[in-house]
Formats: sequence, C-alpha cells, structure tokens
Amino acid sequence: MKIVIDTDPGQDDALTILLALASPEIELLGVTTVAGNVGVRQATINALKTMELAGRPDVPVHAGAERPLLRPLVNATHVHGRTGFEGVDLPDPTIEAAPGHAVDFLIRTVMGNAPGAITICAIGPMTNIALALSREPALRERIGRIVTMSGAFSEVGNITPTAEFNIYVDPHAAAIVLESGIPVTMLPLDVTHTLHTSDARLARFAALPNRVGPVVADWLRFEKRFEATKYGTDGGPLHDPNTVLWLLQPDLYRGREVNVQVETGSELTMGMTVVDWWGITKRPANVLFLRECDVDAAYDLITERLARF
Ligand code: BDR
Ligand code: CA
Repeated sequence: MKIVIDTDPGQDDALTILLALASPEIELLGVTTVAGNVGVRQATINALKTMELAGRPDVPVHAGAERPLLRPLVNATHVHGRTGFEGVDLPDPTIEAAPGHAVDFLIRTVMGNAPGAITICAIGPMTNIALALSREPALRERIGRIVTMSGAFSEVGNITPTAEFNIYVDPHAAAIVLESGIPVTMLPLDVTHTLHTSDARLARFAALPNRVGPVVADWLRFEKRFEATKYGTDGGPLHDPNTVLWLLQPDLYRGREVNVQVETGSELTMGMTVVDWWGITKRPANVLFLRECDVDAAYDLITERLARF
C-alpha cells in the first residue's frame, strides 16, 4: 500500500516513520512536515534525521505549513523537549528537504496515482491536509483513506481538559478533514493511553542488535518522563505508531463507525472531538473510531519490525 506520512516529529512520530520504512507491505512515498510539537523547520530537520537513521535518504521530505490555519501555534516541547527529539543526540542531517511545498507534494502524489490508491497517515495537526483539500477539491474523491492519531472520547484531553493536542493545535483544519467525506480512521487517546511504554517493553527495543532499537528506547524513555508521572502509569502513552500498526494489522484494534465533529466555536472546549458513540444525532458516520487495542501484540509487532533494521 502507498502512503504519505504528514507529521511533526516528535519521538513517537519518528517511530511511526521507522515502522513504515521497516514494513514491506508499505511503500512510503514521502513525508510532509507541519508545525506542531515543534516549529516546522525543526520538524523537517527531525524527519531528515529519521531518514538518515533508517538509511533511507531516498525518501523525500517536504516542508509544509509553519502555522495553523487561524490560531497561533501551540507546541509540545514540554513533552518532547526543545528539539522534539530529546533523549538522543542524533547528528545533524547531511541530506536536505526536497524542493517544493508539502501541500504541492500531497496534491501531486494523490492526483498522480489511481483514485483511492494513496493513504495519508496524519500524525500531527492537519493543516497541510486541509490546505491541500482547499486548493484541490478533487482530492476528496482521490484520497483512499486518512489514518490519524488524534482526538479522544473517554480519555477526553491531554492539552486542555477536553482536547487532544493534534486537534487542538489546528481545530479548523481537523474540521475540514472530518467534513470532507474522505474515509477516516481515528486512533484517539482512548487507544494510545493503553499502550504504556513500560521499562520491560523499552528494554526489548534497547536490546535489539542494531542502532535503531536503542535510539527508539531512549526517545520513548524521554517522552515518558513527562507523561508517566502525569498519568501515574507504568509508562507513557504511545501515540502515533498506532496509525501504521493499524494499517499493518487492523485486527489488533476494535472500534465503531461513528459521527465525529470538532468544536471550533468555544474557547473553553476548543478542539474537542464530539463523538456520537451511541448514534444519538443520526448524523452519518464519518470516522472509524478505535477504542481498544491488543497491547502486547502491538508491542510484539513493533519489536519485530524494528529488528529488521
Ligand atoms: C499527539 O501529540 C503529539 O505530541 C504526539 O506526537 C501525538 O501526535 C498526541 O496527543
Ligand atoms: Ca505527532
């Protein structure tokens, strides 16, 4: 399957890219970067570092939007560190970003492939995707699926009491994507908060006889410093990799087709995903909303893929 990853790396974003590169079922056509966890310049550097770590400098990285559609940028350096990659000091990249804006790359790639052939993994704020949809409305019929780590139902929020970070940063973009009619799979906090990055799980990554495994373990150890203390669990949540894991093995996850809308009108609940889990409104389903995961099997799959580097 052909995918593009739209991302704001971020340690867990980098692991998502690595999993895609390690998986023969997936052809990663390119990575597009967006402002989110860190500014877009830093996010682009981090994506390039990830390609070099993986030994895949041939996969293009295109820099994208440097701020959300309407709101000022909110970052997550309190979770990911100043560079977004704290925990491991990777060398500066020797490769450069590919020429051309991320939005142009998204449009060109989707329009240049058969209808439905391209899946977009959206693991940052959805600014680039919303801009692409506004520039080329035909994308609505051409994008096969958007698989996004974002949103929440029973876990509610991680950046405000009612909002998940990726949606909160650009709620207007998320609303455009959810209203587009493109099939969406959402991996929300309900799932990601069950994949604790426990010491035992990270020790398996660290013990892999390659460079990638220990780097991923150190990255996630850093990320969990903030998150595990906050939630009182035996590890931090694991967010973005669930998108690629779902593409590889959808039967690891359980959820329902439901209607999801994004709050853009109230400052108090800005970016909240309003999930009609019980079908109360009769609004048509627009999202496959996942809420459960076979966690041990998911970690086995990650470990097996990282071992391939
Ligand atoms: C999301 O926010 C970011 O900090 C993570 O990379 C993930 O995409 C989790 O809310
Ligand atoms: Ca992310």
